[in-house]
This record gives sequence, structure tokens and C-alpha cells, in this order.
Amino acid sequence: MKIRDGRLKKAMDEEAAEFTSSVEFDKYIFESDVKCNIAHTLMLKEEKIVDEEIADKILEALFKLMDEGYDALNFNHADEDIHMAVEKYVIKSVGDDAGFMHTAKSRNDQVATDLRLSLRVKIDEIQISILEFIEGLVELAIEHKNIISIGYTHLQHGQTITFGHHLMAYAQSLKRDYERLKDSYKRVNLNPLGSGALATTTFPINRELTTKILGFDAYLENSMDGVSSRDFIVEVVSDLAILSSNLCKIAEELIMWSSYEFRLIEISDEFSSTSSIMPQKKNPDVAELVRGKSSIITGELMTILMILKGIPYTYNRDLQEINPHLWNVIENTEAILSITSKMTLSINFKKERGLELAYKNFATATDLADLMVKEKKTPFRIAHQIVGRIVNEVNSNDDLDFNKIDSEFVDKIAIKLTGKSLSLPNDLIKKALDPVQNVKSRNVIGGPAPEMVELSAKNMQKFLKKEYDKKIQNNKH
Ligand code: ARG
Repeated sequence: MKIRDGRLKKAMDEEAAEFTSSVEFDKYIFESDVKCNIAHTLMLKEEKIVDEEIADKILEALFKLMDEGYDALNFNHADEDIHMAVEKYVIKSVGDDAGFMHTAKSRNDQVATDLRLSLRVKIDEIQISILEFIEGLVELAIEHKNIISIGYTHLQHGQTITFGHHLMAYAQSLKRDYERLKDSYKRVNLNPLGSGALATTTFPINRELTTKILGFDAYLENSMDGVSSRDFIVEVVSDLAILSSNLCKIAEELIMWSSYEFRLIEISDEFSSTSSIMPQKKNPDVAELVRGKSSIITGELMTILMILKGIPYTYNRDLQEINPHLWNVIENTEAILSITSKMTLSINFKKERGLELAYKNFATATDLADLMVKEKKTPFRIAHQIVGRIVNEVNSNDDLDFNKIDSEFVDKIAIKLTGKSLSLPNDLIKKALDPVQNVKSRNVIGGPAPEMVELSAKNMQKFLKKEYDKKIQNNKH
């Protein structure tokens, strides 16, 4: 008793069957499909659309299938898709009465429902992984809140920071990734079931009930929108593309920092490779593959958008083609998120090198200019110019060391440029040029001063606790 037997006279060409089948990636919606059928059958029973006795037999078969798992389906291309395979299973154990299961339901509203059910589980899992990564970063940041490092703009020495401050920057970007998913979840967790093929049904179905049973927040209000909208997928995949680009940035920094030229970190052996010919090599292959694989997600986003953009309302089979790309995105995101988290949390930061770089290349120059503004009310633009000239002077004279310049030297340049001396106290100059003091003085909100890193770490811990608690609460339902 195949669906083809009514309208069509011949079996599908084997190649066409394989071409159109969604067998391979329908495994991702197996559980959701069984749940969807259970909810629908319970509703049909409750509303007396299907006899209680028959509904119970169908439900029993569905629960059995849930227990036995995906393999019990013996799913193959001839089944066309998971919905037909599940129906075949139920028919096998219940007989012809199983046919009532599809009353007031179409594969179109079913697949839309299944995708939303499976995707929300994945969002939840990815969110937990993000929270765990942030948690680790916060701990590492607190540990390194006094460890001086150099901050770059244009990949040139900029200003001094702490390694803890840098790690908290990662944590903040991941927090936004988390929140983006949280927001998208609201638009994923809506119920299309009851939309039917495209125009609902004449049976007195109860959409509130299936919404409640399946744990959706609400039902989708238009049946045509219900079966054909996939923007919830585009939205989540966009979130994951952003997340993956943030992870890629982290991987890229680990690659750079572990190079001899930077020597700022050591990636642990567990996340490194060597060369088959160069015995000295320790290569950051894992980080490089994070960088490479993160591109897949953005590529898949483009593919999904291209599939979607020209499809007229309502269901068209092209929609099926989105699904493998969605699951590829999910698998890749899970993989790069997990490995980036483990790898980043096990790096060893080289303190001496961080301090060495912070002392070099005029990383404290801004603070010398700031000192002129603070102590002598010099307009910042003029102070900026004086320090710029000081830097030039130091650069063209091998005997000069920027960290050791004194009041006399500053005045020589200031007089040449403005005609006035500044007479800055030497102890204040020394303090401004000292990277450790320098970082300590940047104690405004958002700054790298240890107490500010500590504050932002504490705030982040509060956020983490709140979100973990909510997750535990939701799982109880
Ligand atoms: N495998 C299909 C999909 O993923 C299920 C819906 C099939 N509907 C249809 N009218 N052929 O989209």
C-alpha cells in the first residue's frame, strides 16, 4: 500500500528515486518525526477525529519505534522520505488502520514541524557549549588579569593590555553569539503542524493542543507560511556563520601568537602536529582547520539563501535540498566550537614575552601624550605631535631607548616644536612609560586594569549563572 499506487502506475525509476530521496539526512529528524506523529495522533484522539482504540494502537507502535530507534525503520530510497518510512513501520504493526494517522496532516506541515523540533535541540546544545567556553575563558582571564601583553591595531603595536583583558574580549563576542541564538530560538519554536499541505483541513483539529504537547511557544498563524517558510533556518545559520567567524578569529590569533615571530603562546601538544620531514616543527594544524572549516558555514548560508529565494508559495520540493546544508552547518559548528574551546583553554601564555613586547615599539606612547594633557594642560593634538617627534628621534638614534627618556629630552623636542618647555616630573614620565603602571591606570569601565577585568569577569559569571539556571529550568518542563 504505497502512496504511489493510487495516482501513478509505475514505480519510480531507480536513479530518480535516489535523486529525490531524503533518506541520508532524514536521520536528523527521525525522533522529531515520531514525536510529531505522536502529538498529532493524541490530538486526533482527543478531538474524536480518530477512534480511541485505533489511535491507541497507532500510539503504541510509535512509542515502540521511538524505543527501537532509527535502525528499526530499515529506511531505503524507495521509501522516499522519513515520513513514509515511519508510516510504513506503523502500518506493519497496526495494519490498515494505521492509515488514520495521516488524517488532517501532510508531509509538508510535518517536515516543517520536524525541522523546527530538531533544530531547537541543536540550538540548545550549541548554546550550552558556548556557555562552557565562556566559563573557561572567564577563569583563564581571572588567572591572567595581571599578565601584561600587547594590544594591536593594524597588527602593529598599539597599547598595553593584559592577557586577561584579551580573553574577556573573546568571552564578550561569544556572549553575543549566545544571545543571537536565544533571539532566533523564539522564531524557531513555533508550530506549523495543522497547516496541512498548504490550506489546513476541514477536520476540527486542535492546534493549541499539538503546540502544547510539542513544547512550542505558539502556532504559526498562516498555513501557507507554515509549510513554506524556512527563514528560521536562514536566521539560525546566519547566527552560526557569525559565531564561526568569531571562532575563526580566535583560531587565527592562536596561529599567529604561536609563531616564532610572536612567541606569545604555546599551543598544547594535544592540539598540534609535526612535520614528516622537518623534525623541529610544531604546527597549529587544529587551529588552521578551524579557520578552514569555519568557511563552510558561511558557504552553506549562501547556498541556503540561493535555494530559498526563488521558490513560490507554498511547498516545493526544492525546500528539501536545504536540509543537508543545515545539518552540515550544525555538524561543522559543533566541531569547531568544541575544538576551539578545548584548544584555547589549554594554551600556555608566555608572560615574559608579553612583558617584553609591551616594553618595545612605543606601546606606551599614548600615555606620555596623555601625561602632557593631564599635568600641563597641553592640548592633546599638540601632545600627540610632540610624542610623534620623540618617537622619530628615538627611531633614528640607536643609542636612545624610549623607556628611558626623561624630562630634559621631552623638553628639547617640545621647545623645538612649540617654543615652550613642559618640565614634566621624571617620576611621572617613568610611570607613564611603564607598561605595568600603564595598564593599572586604564581603570575605566571596559579597560584592561586588573580590577576592571575582574569586574567584567564577575559580571560575566553572573550572566552565565542566570543562563545555566534558565536552561536547567527549561529542561524540567
Ligand atoms: N522529504 C520532504 C522534505 O524534506 C518531505 C515533504 C515531502 N512533501 C512532498 N509534497 N513531496 O521536504
